[in-house]
Amino acid sequence: MNDFKNLFLLNDEVTFLNFGSFGATPKPVFEKFQSFQLEMERDPVQFITKRGIQYLKESREALASMIHAQANDLVMVTNPSYAVNTVAKSLELKAGDEILATNIEYGACDRTWDFVCKEHGAQYIRQHVSLPLVSDEQFVDDLFQGATDNTKMIFISHITSTTALIFPVEAVIQKAKTLNIPVFVDGAHAIGQIPLNLTALDADFYTGACHKWLMTPKGSSFLHVKKSWQEYIKPLIVSWGYEALFPSDSKFIDWHQMNGTRDYTAMLCVPHAIAFRQAHDWDTVSDRARNLAYQNAITYSRLLQSPLLGNAQYIGQMVSVQIQTPDPEALYLELVQRFKIEIPVMRQDEKVYLRYSVQAFTDQNDLDTLFEAIETLKKEEKLMV
Ligand SMILES: Cc1ncc(COP(=O)(O)O)c(C=O)c1O
Repeated sequence: MNDFKNLFLLNDEVTFLNFGSFGATPKPVFEKFQSFQLEMERDPVQFITKRGIQYLKESREALASMIHAQANDLVMVTNPSYAVNTVAKSLELKAGDEILATNIEYGACDRTWDFVCKEHGAQYIRQHVSLPLVSDEQFVDDLFQGATDNTKMIFISHITSTTALIFPVEAVIQKAKTLNIPVFVDGAHAIGQIPLNLTALDADFYTGACHKWLMTPKGSSFLHVKKSWQEYIKPLIVSWGYEALFPSDSKFIDWHQMNGTRDYTAMLCVPHAIAFRQAHDWDTVSDRARNLAYQNAITYSRLLQSPLLGNAQYIGQMVSVQIQTPDPEALYLELVQRFKIEIPVMRQDEKVYLRYSVQAFTDQNDLDTLFEAIETLKKEEKLMV
């Protein structure tokens, strides 16, 4: 077991190559999480109404400083679905309006936009973008083929779930500005995996899941909204924060943060996750992981005779390869039950992808275990090339 494996609680009988779905929390951060829960249980009223609110503010401040944003422009939410629903349901779309996205967005977000668009007679456009991703220009050209005078917003992943590609959102935002189209970036996988500067990026909306690559406990994410939009974004849950009896200095925070009794202790762990990363020189750790991910991508793509989905600059700590299999769900079960490898096998429309994540504790042995399993499955014709 390498030193980093020891810092996590993960079951060491499993080769864990799916950090991307729900992350995993390092032991010291998890202990802090439990200590917040104990503090709450010992003194629920003071914690939920006072101390916890102060800790939440400290979380927003630590997060804001990490991603170069202002603390009052971001609110902690449980997950990106919550953030996407908050914005989508605030837009007051009309019949004929369009929301432009790529054809590679996350399924839950596709469903949210479909639902909201249908309610208003608007359309959710999943514009085809060509792969492999080789240049920003190619991507921007493809995406904006779908833009029309009716486009009310662009919704785009920063790092996609199924292909794991880092999309050139900077270039998308620049082009969208010239057309006056607001952009909502789904950065679920970005926070903690790649450096973020939300001020420089200047997206209208940005959401990220801290419980993935930032490694906080599950149920801690954020929604960042540009100041000029804040008054138009309605609370998804109306509660004491609306027309608050004791308003804070930000109506935006009150509206979206005070939404009924809940356990928000996972959100309080942001400063502790950031401190953990600093203590372990996480920039260096991430660089090593990214290099290991890419080196193996080449071998992996040869093994499966499937081209890389993008050039090196579009690949981070996760790599996806398109695969041919008669039964993706059976393949997943085979990998997890027979080979004890936790790795997602994901469908997107008619395509199927296998995606591995490389985190601090992942080493070449883990990836070799996967490669050997793939060779066996190829021989057994459960994976075709
Ligand atoms: C690209 C992307 N967006 C959003 C999400 C958030 O999903 P949820 O709201 O279910 O946590 C995920 C989760 O994996 C994702 O990969």
